[in-house]
Formats: sequence, C-alpha cells, structure tokens
Amino acid sequence: MNAYTKHEVLLSAENVGLQYGGKVVLRDVNFTIRDIRRQGINQGQVVSLIGRSGIGKTQLFRILSGLRRPNTGQVKMDEDQHVVQPGEVGIVPQNYILFNHRTIYQNLKIGLDSAGGQLTEAHKRKTIEECAAAFELSEHLKKYPAQLSGGQRQRVSIIQQVLTGNKFILLDEPFSGLDVLMVDRVMQLLLKISTLNEHNTLIIVSHDIENAAAISDMVWVLAPEAGKPGATIVKEYDLCEMELAWTPNIRENMRFVELLADIRRHL
Ligand SMILES: Nc1ncnc2c1ncn2[C@@H]1O[C@H](COP(=O)(O)OP(=O)(O)O)[C@@H](O)[C@H]1O
Ligand SMILES: [Mg+2]
Repeated sequence: MNAYTKHEVLLSAENVGLQYGGKVVLRDVNFTIRDIRRQGINQGQVVSLIGRSGIGKTQLFRILSGLRRPNTGQVKMDEDQHVVQPGEVGIVPQNYILFNHRTIYQNLKIGLDSAGGQLTEAHKRKTIEECAAAFELSEHLKKYPAQLSGGQRQRVSIIQQVLTGNKFILLDEPFSGLDVLMVDRVMQLLLKISTLNEHNTLIIVSHDIENAAAISDMVWVLAPEAGKPGATIVKEYDLCEMELAWTPNIRENMRFVELLADIRRHL
C-alpha cells in the first residue's frame, strides 16, 4: 500500500515569465509543491521539471533559487509563502562548484559553516564525519576534488547542500555526464536525502526523462505550446496518484514505461 496524504504548499511558482529582449523564454509557469506525508515513513518530496535542451530549464532553476527575478510572477515558499530569497534554497548547479584547492572535508565544511548557528569546531567535525560515513565518503575526506571522479564530486556537492540545512535543494541536470553506475548512486543519494526529513524537498531540473521520473513523486513537463511564444508547463503527472512513486524496480513497471512514452509525446 502506498498510503499518503498531501498537505500544505511548500513552494509555488505563480505565473512566472521570463524574457530576453523581445524573446519570451518562459511564459505563465505555474506549479505547486505540497508536503507529502506517509504513515510511519519520513517522506520528503522529489519533483522534476523536465524539458528539452534550450527550453529554459536552467533559467527556471535560477528563478527558483531566487538568484534571478522573473519578469512576471513570483516564486513563493514556506508556510508564510514569502518570495524566495537567494540562499534560502540549496543549489547544485550543472557545473557544480567545489573549491579545488580545498579538501573534500573543507568543502563539506563550507556547507555547514553557511548554516550559521553556534556549532563548535568539534561538533562540526563530528557532523561532517557522520555525514561522510552515511554517504560513503569517509575515505575521500582528505582528498582534493581533482582526485575524485565526476560522480563522486557530484555527490559531494549535493551533500554539501544538505549540510547547509536548507530543506529545499535544487539540482540542475544532476545525472548528466555520469556513467550508469554513478547515475544510480546519485539517485540513491537523492532518495536517501528525501527520507532524512519529511520536509526535505528536492527539485530536479533535467532533460533526462527516465532518471528524473524514476525518483520523482511529481513531474512537470516544460514545453512550447502551439501558437504561443516561450515554454510553459504543458503537463503535470502525480506519481503518487498513479501509484508509481516509491515503488521498487520502477523501470520494470509497464505503467512507468507508458508514463515515459507519454512524457516524450508532450516534450
Ligand atoms: N543571457 C542570455 N541572453 C539571452 N538569452 C538567453 C540568455 N541566457 C539564456 N538565454 C536563452 O534562454 C533559453 C533557455 O536557456 P536555458 O535555460 O539554458 O535552457 P536549458 O537549460 O533548458 O537547456 C535559451 O534558448 C537561450 O536562448
Ligand atoms: Mg540547462
């Protein structure tokens, strides 16, 4: 049984529009992320915004992070539904930035330091070491980013954002440039983060339909609409309602395969 209930709005995009010069990139983008609860399970949210290359996903990523103001509309978050401010949402950009001259330990500490609070150095060390152990990074803490594979660096940058304490983490193309095994490990990491805290919310922006959908509870398709400029949400899929969310071996599920085909038709 996939019993769940949906509750308050955690984040919403309202009529978000973006243009450059005269060119409309995004038009009337609307979607709402709600708190999902499952009995006996800490269940956060994993949602995906899927679209072709060049459609405006990275621009939307910047708007959702508060780093860029849309020309119209707004992105609101939390119970009071205030307009999102830079730094309130953790971000893992496509070309994720780790400090190359600092060790993995120091890079993770940057996330923890930016969380503020009054942790002692000893407490920070303990937190980072526990986190590294939980995510199988212990043996890499003393290394520099250049000594890690792309997939390992990707995992470090995701964990760094978890350590900031932000409940929302936005990821731009988190699976691109990774081999199949590493894609799997990054997906396992994201699922684990989503169940650490029922308020954790991962927002994935990607052209990778299959991988993004496989771990999502909501999928929105960003695409052009006939006769209208720019991209907008053309389709919404609720994988909870479809009884696909949180199912093991989802890729072998015929209904999932059909879902992928349906998404492709709307791209
Ligand atoms: N600085 C800019 N000036 C003008 N147009 C831009 C700029 N940045 C992005 N765009 C336009 O925004 C569109 C969407 O880009 P982007 O969000 O990077 O797409 P995606 O991430 O989906 O591949 C592109 O078609 C591009 O023409
Ligand atoms: Mg992009």
